[in-house]
Amino acid sequence: MKYRKFGKLGIEGSAFGLGCMRFNGEASGDSIIDEQKAISLIRRAIDGGVTYLDTAYVYLDRTSEIVLGKALLDGYRDRVTIATKMPMEAVHNRAEMEALLAEELKKLQTDHIDFYLMHGINREKWEYFKSIGAPRFFDDMKREGKIRYKCFSFHGPYDEFEFIINDWDWDMVQIQYNFMDVDNQAGTRGLKLAGRLGIPVVIMEGLLGGQLAKAPENVQALYDAFPVKRSPVEWAFRWLCNHPEVATVLSGCNEASQIDDNLRIFDAVAPNCMTDDELKLMDDVRSAYLSRRKIGCTGCRYCMPCPNGVNIPGIFSAWNQMSLYNQNPKDNWDYGQIVLNGETADKCVACGACEAACPQHLGIIEALKQAQRELAF
Ligand SMILES: NC(=O)c1ccc[n+]([C@@H]2O[C@H](COP(=O)([O-])OP(=O)(O)OC[C@H]3O[C@@H](n4cnc5c(N)ncnc54)[C@H](OP(=O)(O)O)[C@@H]3O)[C@@H](O)[C@H]2O)c1
Repeated sequence: MKYRKFGKLGIEGSAFGLGCMRFNGEASGDSIIDEQKAISLIRRAIDGGVTYLDTAYVYLDRTSEIVLGKALLDGYRDRVTIATKMPMEAVHNRAEMEALLAEELKKLQTDHIDFYLMHGINREKWEYFKSIGAPRFFDDMKREGKIRYKCFSFHGPYDEFEFIINDWDWDMVQIQYNFMDVDNQAGTRGLKLAGRLGIPVVIMEGLLGGQLAKAPENVQALYDAFPVKRSPVEWAFRWLCNHPEVATVLSGCNEASQIDDNLRIFDAVAPNCMTDDELKLMDDVRSAYLSRRKIGCTGCRYCMPCPNGVNIPGIFSAWNQMSLYNQNPKDNWDYGQIVLNGETADKCVACGACEAACPQHLGIIEALKQAQRELAF
C-alpha cells in the first residue's frame, strides 16, 4: 500500500480508502447488510494497509456506521482514520446536530471522528448548513476533540464548488472524480483549485460506481492494444493516483477478491506515475467512451422549461449514460426520478419550442422519440 500526503494537514493516509456504502445483504434473507461478511472485508482491507474508512449516517439504511463500529473493535480503531457525515435532512438546529453526532459516535464505538463531513452539499445545502449554525458547531466540536477535521462532500456544478471551498477554512473535500468526469461536477478545475489551497481531496465514484470496471468493446480494444496490460479498474485508479492533489481514492468493495485486487493496484501507484503514452491512452479511452454518446446535448438547458413538462436534458443525459456504460435504464437513478415525476418523452407534442432554442441545433423531437423507445422499462 502506498501512503499519500493530505495537503496542508501534515498527515498521510492510504491511497486506497475503503467506502462502506456498497456492502451487500445476506445471500439468503432480506437483510440490508451481511454483517459478518462486511466486518471481515473491512478487517481484510485494514490488515492489507488501508487506513482510511468512509461511511455516513444514512448509508445502508443507517446500518453502515454500526457495522463499521463493530469491525473496528479488537484494536482496529487505533490503526485507522474514520470519515463520516452529517446529512442536511436530519438536522434543523444545534441540539439536533449535537444529538446526531452523539449517535454517530455511539454507533461507531469511538470518542472521536477524524473527518467529519457535511454530506453531499451544493450551494443551497451549504447556505442551509450556515443558517442553522453548522460551521460554528463543527468549530466547537473540533475544539472539544470530538472531530479532528471539518470537511464536505460535494455534488454540484463547478461554480458552486468554487464558492463553497473559498467560503470557509475547510480541512478536506470529497468529490466525485474519474477519467470521465473531468468536466463534470467539481471536475479537474475543482481538484486543481483544492490543490492550490492545500486542501486534500478524497475521491468518490472513482469507477463511477463500478461502471468503469467493465469496458465496452471499443474501449477494451484500446486497452488490449496497449503494450502494458492492465485491467480497466487498474487504469482508472492509476489515472486518479497520478494526480498529486488526490489524497485517497475511495472504493466500495463487495468481495474479498476486489479488496485484494485494489490492495495490489494501490501498491503500484504514485503521484505523476503515468507516462505520456499512458496519459494519451486514457485520453483515447475517454474519446472512445464519448463516441458512444447518443446525442451531443451539453445540458445548457436553453430548451427548458418545456411547455409540456418533458425533462429534455435529463432524458438525454440518461440516454447517453445508458449507451456509454451499457447501463440498464432501470439502474439510472436520475431517469427513475424523471419517470416518477412524469417528465418522460411521451409528453412531447412536437411543438418545436425546444429546437428553436437549442444552440446545438439538435433534432430534439425525433431524438426524444428514439430515447423514449430505448429507455422504456
Ligand atoms: N458523500 C457522497 O455523497 C458519496 C457518494 C457516493 C459515494 N460515496 C462514498 O465513496 C465510496 C466510493 O464510491 P463508490 O463505492 O461509488 O466507488 P467506485 O469505486 O466508483 O465503485 C465501487 C464499485 O466498483 C466495483 N469495484 C470496486 N473494486 C473493484 C475491483 N477491484 N474490480 C472490479 N470491480 C470493482 C464494485 O462494483 P460491483 O459491486 O458491481 O462489483 C463496487 O461496488 C462509497 O462507498 C461511499 O463511501 C460518497
